[in-house]
Amino acid sequence: MPAPKSAIITGIGAFIPERILTNAELERMVDTSDEWIQTRTGIRERRIADPGMASSDLALRAARQALERAGRTPTDLDLIMVATVTPDYVFPSCACTLQGKLMAPQAPAFDLSAACTGFIYGLCVARAMILSRQASRILLVAVETLSRITDYQDRATCILFGDAAGAVVVEGSEEPGRGILSVAIGSDGDQGGLLCMPGGGSVNPASQETVEKRLHYLHMEGNEEFKIAVRGMEKIARSALDKAECGVEDIDLLIPHQANIRIIDATAKRLGFPKEKVVVVIDRFGNTSASSIPLALNVALEEGRVKPGDVLALVAFGGGLTWGASVLRWEMKA
Ligand code: ACO
Repeated sequence: MPAPKSAIITGIGAFIPERILTNAELERMVDTSDEWIQTRTGIRERRIADPGMASSDLALRAARQALERAGRTPTDLDLIMVATVTPDYVFPSCACTLQGKLMAPQAPAFDLSAACTGFIYGLCVARAMILSRQASRILLVAVETLSRITDYQDRATCILFGDAAGAVVVEGSEEPGRGILSVAIGSDGDQGGLLCMPGGGSVNPASQETVEKRLHYLHMEGNEEFKIAVRGMEKIARSALDKAECGVEDIDLLIPHQANIRIIDATAKRLGFPKEKVVVVIDRFGNTSASSIPLALNVALEEGRVKPGDVLALVAFGGGLTWGASVLRWEMKA
C-alpha cells in the first residue's frame, strides 16, 4: 500500500450534557452578577455532567457520533487518543477506559495532557502517526468534566467552566494537500503555575490537608493569563498559516478556543479576521477546555457554516502553558 501523503478528518461528533448552569444560578452561589459574567466573559450558561457520568461516558457518546459519520465501527480503529485534564482516574487512562466501553480491543489507547490545547496537540500526533504509518484510522477525543475540579466558592473561576466532549476520526489519503494542512504547537513550562490543579499529584499527594486547603480545584491567575493568551494565540496561528502557505484571506472560518469572548475578539482582531468569520459558542457552553474547538467546529458544521472545501484555522491556548494552531481543508459533509 502506498504511503499516505495527507491525514483527513472523516467524521466529527460532540456530546454536551443536558443540565444547564445559568448565570442566575451562579448569582445565588457566589458574589457575582449575570451582567459582570456576560460583559467580562461572554458566557450566558454552561453544561454540567450528571454525577453518574464520568469523562469516558461523555467521550463515548461523542466518539460514537464521529464514527457513525465517518462510516466506521470501533473495530476499524487502530489508535485511540483522549485529550483531557479531567480523566476518570489518574490511571488507567481515560483512553483505555473508553477503548473498553467502545469495545475496540485491537486499538492501542493513551491520554494526552495539554489542557485547552489538547485537541490541537492531538491533531498533531494523529497526523504524524498516519504519515509515519504507525496508524491508519485514529479516534481522537477531547473531553472535560471541568465541573469536577471547579471550586464553586471561587467566583473568579466557577463562572467560566463547563463540561463537554468532541471527537474526530482521522484517516490517511494517498493524495497530498488534503485534510490537516499544518499544525504548530508550543509550550512554556516556566509559567505552568498560572493555571494548574495543585493537589493530587506527586508534589501534593491527596491528604486531609490538601482537601482542607482546596488544592484539588483548578487554580488560575486569570488576568495574567489573559495577556499571554492573546499574544500566544496570534503568534501560533501565524506559524500554522505560514506552514500551510496560507494567508488570512485564504481562511473561511477561524475556530478559536472558547475561553473568553474578549480573548476571542482580541485574537481575531490582531490576526485580521472579521467577526463574521469567527465561530463563537462560548455564550452557550462556557470554557470546556480541550473539548471547546471540536465542539465549536461541530456546531458550525451543524449550523451549515462549514462546507466541504472550506479552509479552517483552529487556534488554542491553555494550561502548561501550551499553544497550538492548525489549518484544515474540510472535506466532510454536514
Ligand atoms: N463576579 C464579579 N466580580 C468578579 C468576578 C465575578 N465572577 N470575578 C472576579 N471579579 C472581580 C475581581 O475580584 C476584581 O475585583 P477588584 O478589582 O475589586 O480586585 C475585578 O473583578 C477584576 O478582576 P480581574 O481578574 O482583573 O478580571 P478580568 O477582567 O481579568 O476577568 C477572567 C477575569 C474572566 C478570569 C479573565 O481574566 C479571563 O478570562 N482570563 C483568561 C482565562 C483563560 O483563558 N485561561 C486559559 C484557558 S483555561 C484552561 O486551560 C482550562
